[in-house]
Amino acid sequence: MRILLLLCWLFGPIGAAYFSQFSLKTPDQDPCYDSNGRAVRCVSDFINAAFGKPVIASNTCGLNGPSRYCTLKEDVKGRLVEECGMCDASKEALSHPASLLTDLNNPNNLTCWLSEPSVDDSRNVTLTLSLGKKFELTYVSMQFCNRRPDSMALYKSMDFGKTWIPFQFYSSQCRKMYGKASNAEIGKHNEQEALCTDAHSVSPAVGNRVAFATLEGRPSSFDFEHSPVLQDWITATDIRVVFNRLSPDQTELYGLSDGGNDTDLDAIKERYFYSMAEVAVGGRCKCNGHGSRCNFDKMGKYMCDCKHNTAGQDCEKCKPFHFDRPWGRATADNAHECVPCNCNLHARRCRFNMELYKLSGYKSGGVCINCRHNTAGRNCHYCKDGYYRDPTKPITHRKACKSCGCHPVGSMGRHCNQTTGQCPCKPGVTGLTCNRCAKGYQQSRSPIAPCVRMPVSLTPSRDKNECPKCRVVPKRMNQRKFCRRDYAIQAQVIGRELVDGWVKYRIAVMTIFKREAGVRIRRGEQSLWVPSRNFSCKCPRVRLGKSYLILGRDDTTDANRPGIVVNNRTLMLDWSAEWMPRLRRFVRRQRKGQCPSEKKKGANPIKNKKKPMSPV
Ligand SMILES: *[C@@H]1O[C@H](CO)[C@@H](O)[C@H](O)[C@H]1NC(C)=O
Ligand SMILES: *[C@@H]1O[C@H](CO)[C@@H](O)[C@H](O)[C@H]1NC(C)=O
Ligand SMILES: *[C@@H]1O[C@H](CO)[C@@H](O)[C@H](O)[C@H]1NC(C)=O
Ligand SMILES: *[C@@H]1O[C@H](CO)[C@@H](O)[C@H](O)[C@H]1NC(C)=O
Ligand SMILES: *[C@@H]1O[C@H](CO)[C@@H](O)[C@H](O)[C@H]1NC(C)=O
Ligand SMILES: *[C@@H]1O[C@H](CO)[C@@H](O)[C@H](O)[C@H]1NC(C)=O
Repeated sequence: MRILLLLCWLFGPIGAAYFSQFSLKTPDQDPCYDSNGRAVRCVSDFINAAFGKPVIASNTCGLNGPSRYCTLKEDVKGRLVEECGMCDASKEALSHPASLLTDLNNPNNLTCWLSEPSVDDSRNVTLTLSLGKKFELTYVSMQFCNRRPDSMALYKSMDFGKTWIPFQFYSSQCRKMYGKASNAEIGKHNEQEALCTDAHSVSPAVGNRVAFATLEGRPSSFDFEHSPVLQDWITATDIRVVFNRLSPDQTELYGLSDGGNDTDLDAIKERYFYSMAEVAVGGRCKCNGHGSRCNFDKMGKYMCDCKHNTAGQDCEKCKPFHFDRPWGRATADNAHECVPCNCNLHARRCRFNMELYKLSGYKSGGVCINCRHNTAGRNCHYCKDGYYRDPTKPITHRKACKSCGCHPVGSMGRHCNQTTGQCPCKPGVTGLTCNRCAKGYQQSRSPIAPCVRMPVSLTPSRDKNECPKCRVVPKRMNQRKFCRRDYAIQAQVIGRELVDGWVKYRIAVMTIFKREAGVRIRRGEQSLWVPSRNFSCKCPRVRLGKSYLILGRDDTTDANRPGIVVNNRTLMLDWSAEWMPRLRRFVRRQRKGQCPSEKKKGANPIKNKKKPMSPV
């Protein structure tokens, strides 16, 4: 209650502007979220941040044995009277430690810290108050017990006392003491500048309070929320008061200025000390709009209870894995909640990247670190090299990425197409993992070219239009056809190779039914030559391992191609064992000269059982 009254007295309209930014919330609801669970700015309670906090004084009365001191008091009639006493740090009733500055303050019974009385006018006495963490301060108020100092300086630290920044100066001689003009104006350009004021020297001499309002007279305090400069200005972890000079008016009051012999010096000394009853620091535990409470953690450290996925002593950063957007102080329109990175459940850590954030149109800047489960990418959203997406599983699945398994010999690398899983195959190699030779290629022993192209003519043409219709293989085999050929053999095809643009089959001649003079056929291995064009068009169709009945005429005399050279009179019929007796009959009849004349149709035809007939 006293703080609020004090605030009104201190700030007037500026105070109203500063405090109106904090809306009141019902106590049972977390003020950091609205009723829909949406993040909203929240602040901690306005408190006396100094209360109970440690104060270190550079100098305390009675610390090195008992000292006598004298103060002025108003008597019941309102007159100033001098009252003297002893201070002795070793006796509790007589001690005046600095801890009295931040204990419970009773305005009707002030308990005072006293510095050691001294006539040394140039000595400085320092009080250092540690708040334990960052606070945003609205005022610093000091209640003096006795005379106020003539010149004193207020400093703040934002780094727990490592460095100190002037906050405010007080002096009847600002220029002389601190090199500053008294009561200067603050503009937009110097809102973080400490001013010097002489206003306090005209206040009553005793029992009075000096208060410094941190935002007073600073133009941006009306728009504090959007002024990082002022947010910084009012932030402090420690406050230091340095007393540089006592008020000189005391001496005049007592007529001591014209004294000055040795016996009087003790009397003067007893009146020369600083004393203060209370240091109050009005402010809020600084949580940057992301916390409404501050507590001691397990290590005894005073911490914000951070919400909105923030972390740190002052909620000044995003908590781990929540770096998709940059950290920001919460404002009335935007809570600047920290957002988790999207790593599709494949990473536990991420970092923020400003470039990516800008590129995304200020939406997402998180980059996942150490994507697991063979994933990669800033969101672990695709498979790493050597793996491809299993389309049957969601990307968040542990097994969403499958190993390419590229064949070490057949493929050019280990990395397959991320979508299809297709490995990069060497020429002539095919298959998802490059484990087979493509059509028209055959395996070689070379790991560099594991599949080599088959000779062009050994590749049956795929274009049917290039091939004329094959000659129709006769359905009937009769005595007349038998008689009109120079030879008739049963042979099995056992091999194939390319020689000079011809396909040369190796055949094993099993039976010779007929062989006219001049025919160069014998039992055992022979060659059967097929023009490459006929091979391409499969006319005739010759299959490895198959047996055929082959009849022909004038086709065994080519010196360059020893064996049978297939021509338009050559007949190749799929062999059938049932033909054997009939062929023997044809042989007997021909020996007896029973070959039919040209026009006659033959008797006892044998039919090629295969349908459709192999073209010959
Ligand atoms: C003032 O406070 C001190 C210490 O708390 C106590 O010893 C003393 O009795 C109090 N005096 C009055 C008048 O209440
Ligand atoms: C006291 O403080 C003033 C102002 O900071 C400084 O100029 C002076 O040197 C100090 N005196 C001593 C004795 O430290
Ligand atoms: C010094 O002060 C004492 C007592 O206050 C007085 O008796 C004495 O005469 C003074 N001496 C001088 C030299 O003024
Ligand atoms: C992967 O395969 C798909 C489908 O065939 C194709 O569109 C894509 O371009 C391929 N990706 C790469 C990197 O080759
Ligand atoms: C060989 O091919 C030619 C033209 O493609 C064709 O006329 C002929 O009948 C074929 N020979 C055989 C035995 O099929
Ligand atoms: C068979 O081939 C010979 C020479 O290659 C040719 O003169 C003859 O006309 C051809 N006969 C048929 C029916 O194609």
